[in-house]
Amino acid sequence: MKISVVGAGNVGATTAQYLLEEKLADELVVVDVVPGLAKGKCLDFLEASPLRHYPIKVAGTEDFSEIRNSNIIVITAGIARKPGMSRLDLLKTNEKIMKDVSIHIKTHAPTAVVLVVSNPLDVMCYVALKTTGFQKNRVFGMAGVLDTSRFRYFVAEKLRVNPVDIQAMVLGGHGDEMVPIISTATISGIPLTHFLNKTQIQEIVERTQKAGAEIVSYLKTGSAFYSPAASVVEMVRCLVTDVQKILPLACYLEGEYGACDLYCGVPARLGRGGVLEIIEMKLNPEEKEAFGKSITAVKASLQELK
Ligand code: NAI
Ligand code: 2OP
Repeated sequence: MKISVVGAGNVGATTAQYLLEEKLADELVVVDVVPGLAKGKCLDFLEASPLRHYPIKVAGTEDFSEIRNSNIIVITAGIARKPGMSRLDLLKTNEKIMKDVSIHIKTHAPTAVVLVVSNPLDVMCYVALKTTGFQKNRVFGMAGVLDTSRFRYFVAEKLRVNPVDIQAMVLGGHGDEMVPIISTATISGIPLTHFLNKTQIQEIVERTQKAGAEIVSYLKTGSAFYSPAASVVEMVRCLVTDVQKILPLACYLEGEYGACDLYCGVPARLGRGGVLEIIEMKLNPEEKEAFGKSITAVKASLQELK
């Protein structure tokens, strides 16, 4: 199992660290355009290997040819948000970067499964799909796992319960219009609405929608990376071990949920080879409307791209 992480910044380096800790790869390559950055971080990992037991080949490089024949590629290359910036503000810069990276992937790792992280997420997945020309099940994005993890944590914090016991899904685009699905959210199988009233749930929904900006407001020089990297690794674990979990992923839609030719967060079964199945769950009328608004927002950002 060869995994390459493109971008050795906050999300990329933390993803690499978690992958090493979990021993999910036989070979790990980290690529960044900044001279020495990926090399330096990988040497640092290797110097920790006697203490952290990393029995893995690790290489950091600026040379994209080193991703050759990777099974999985995680793209974190791009600029991140600073205070006052929306994910959309990153569009033009990250589009160029995504195209460049996708061409390298097409050339050197034509059979890889590609997991996109760079923002604006749904649009960057689209750029990666169109530039690589890969099948849609091999190009998908991480956002819903993160947004859902945040939602679960906020519920757990409010109720002082174990976040692991909370089952929920946040769907839609990775923007302020994302849609936490309340109708199916439970704590150990008991509906969330048993524990929280409408106002309390709404507060958590809004905090989830703005959770990325909340972290940016504290960090000031960048955006979240520990929970995003943990979310990436949750997905990579499914790809490597083929456990086929159903997770909220940014998938290419061709009619599902009434959307066509765009990426949006939907529940999907993830296993070796990528997206195995998109699950079309029944949404209540309120959720359907919110999902529609989220699709409209994704379409608007795609329009800016075009
Ligand atoms: P960062 O600025 O710490 O790292 C980005 C790295 O990409 C830099 O080291 C930069 O040199 C590198 N890079 C730029 N162009 C490149 C190219 N052509 N090839 C290889 N490397 C290149 O940013 P951070 O915090 O790691 O975030 C990365 C991206 O992920 C951002 O766009 C951010 O908005 C996004 N993100 C998405 C999340 C999601 O839920 N989908 C969550 C967190 C971040
Ligand atoms: C986040 O949600 C920046 O998209 C990133 O933290």
